[in-house]
Amino acid sequence: SVHTSAKWLGTPLEELKRMPQCSPPLSHLRATDNHTVMIRTDLLREGEVLVPYPTRFKDTWDEANVKMPCSEKNLFPLENEDGGGVQSRWELIQKALKTEFKSAYDIKGAILKYNMAHTKRWDFSALNAFCNKALEPEDVQHLFGSVLPKMAELALKVDKLCTKPIPLLKQKMNHSITMSQEQIACLLANAFFCTFPRRNSRKQEYANYPDIHLFRLFEGSSPKKIEKLKTLFCYFRRVTEKQPTGLVTFTRQSLTRFPEWESSAKQLTKLHITCEGTIEDQGYGMLQVDFANRMVGGGVTGNGLVQEEIRFMINPELIVARLFTEAMDNNECLVVTGTEQYSKYTGYAESYRWAGNHKDEIPRDDWQRKCTEIVAIDALKFKNFLDQFQPEKINRELNKAYCGFVRPGVRSDNLPAVATGNWGCGVFLGDSRLKALLQILVAAEVGRDVAYFTFGDADLMRDVHKMHSFLTERNVTVGTVYRLLMQYYSTVCEPCSSSRPDVSLYAFIYDCVCSSAASLDSDSAAARP
Ligand code: AR6
Repeated sequence: SVHTSAKWLGTPLEELKRMPQCSPPLSHLRATDNHTVMIRTDLLREGEVLVPYPTRFKDTWDEANVKMPCSEKNLFPLENEDGGGVQSRWELIQKALKTEFKSAYDIKGAILKYNMAHTKRWDFSALNAFCNKALEPEDVQHLFGSVLPKMAELALKVDKLCTKPIPLLKQKMNHSITMSQEQIACLLANAFFCTFPRRNSRKQEYANYPDIHLFRLFEGSSPKKIEKLKTLFCYFRRVTEKQPTGLVTFTRQSLTRFPEWESSAKQLTKLHITCEGTIEDQGYGMLQVDFANRMVGGGVTGNGLVQEEIRFMINPELIVARLFTEAMDNNECLVVTGTEQYSKYTGYAESYRWAGNHKDEIPRDDWQRKCTEIVAIDALKFKNFLDQFQPEKINRELNKAYCGFVRPGVRSDNLPAVATGNWGCGVFLGDSRLKALLQILVAAEVGRDVAYFTFGDADLMRDVHKMHSFLTERNVTVGTVYRLLMQYYSTVCEPCSSSRPDVSLYAFIYDCVCSSAASLDSDSAAARP
């Protein structure tokens, strides 16, 4: 039949809302108590260089802000003939990064000059292999003759570029940070050279933060590392050749109020579902879901290379979120608006390959941000299949997605559709039929349409589309589906003695809705005089 070969089902993609068309004009960008802006907003003009604010570096060294490499307090103990003493670590960094690099060995040498305690533990095999085996001779020459010196120069400008203290986005905070792409490039150059104080181990004060330093990318012999380094150097080459002139906003959203799912009378919204394409390509201008780790970026600075890490690789400005975003709690998400895509890729995980430069054609908004909104929401990881149907797990996932999709104070007419897919269903082993349904419920609750990318799974596409059409045709509400999920747990999952339920969730829903419709019809017939 025609359906077996369909590549998409439901509402045509063109009918779903995207930015910038759906969003109203932005109010003038200004700093407030819950919005830190690191540039001069009065000088914000299209295509013009953004000016850091304030003019001079404000040195802070406290619990509330990122500890900066150029801080006067960035000291390390010095042992000399007179006994103890301290030395400025920033002076050491400057000296090390001003030395010429001729090989991977010199990069290692420079980095270890101010990270001496790690001399024995840090391994630079992947960086070595990248420089010596993966590149053509002319690319090696360009890397050492141009890209790396410019990266070092950019890293050392951190006290000129990032003059405003960067607040840590801690748990329970609702706070935004807007910074320029140039400031981000500078911070990422520092991440590359591993210059941030207190960020080499997660034992101390940054225990609940993701790693920001890239040293784990340099280690080992996995071919994935080579592809990741290619992708990252593409970014550094691009930004050091021509500084991008836009802004990026990072918003931590921490909610305290959630819907009463059980009593929600909301109807489902529209669904476009396809087994082709990706969230980042076909979902441009929509709210794009990052299948995140509670530590944003997951394994991006190490071995990871699945959906989240790939997105952080091709849009590397996302990586800077790791500098200041504390682990997400159940009621939290991180929204990042304005990152640019610099690289193309093919494959996935082990088969991932850098596929060259990407020219990002996405327009900018009035704040000079690319109209690309990405939300990091971390699903739960399940070891036993049945666990995910427990009421508290269902509530947790609904509320997490709700946090990601809801925009308090914005009318739903002005919200683009949600571009998502098998959230929590790869590494985190969730059931895609359940997760698709949960995300459809949350989108309905907040009044947004859904573009769902099944990533090649045509059966899933058909199943989810059929369920969505079935529920829509019968005007089944969010609350009703929620109650059916609870019933499915108590009647099918809880009593189940094997590792998989005897009746699938969708079969159960079809059955219940059909039989209750039958009984409702007969009830109303009986009630008639
Ligand atoms: N577009 C649409 N769907 C995709 C795409 C894409 N670009 N890429 C992958 N998928 P996974 P999780 C589908 O395993 O289970 C990371 O390390 C594909 O079907 O990345 O939530 C994080 O940092 C894939 O199997 O997400 C976390 O630690 C499915 O999405 C952890 O993984 C799930 O992708 C999160 O694991």
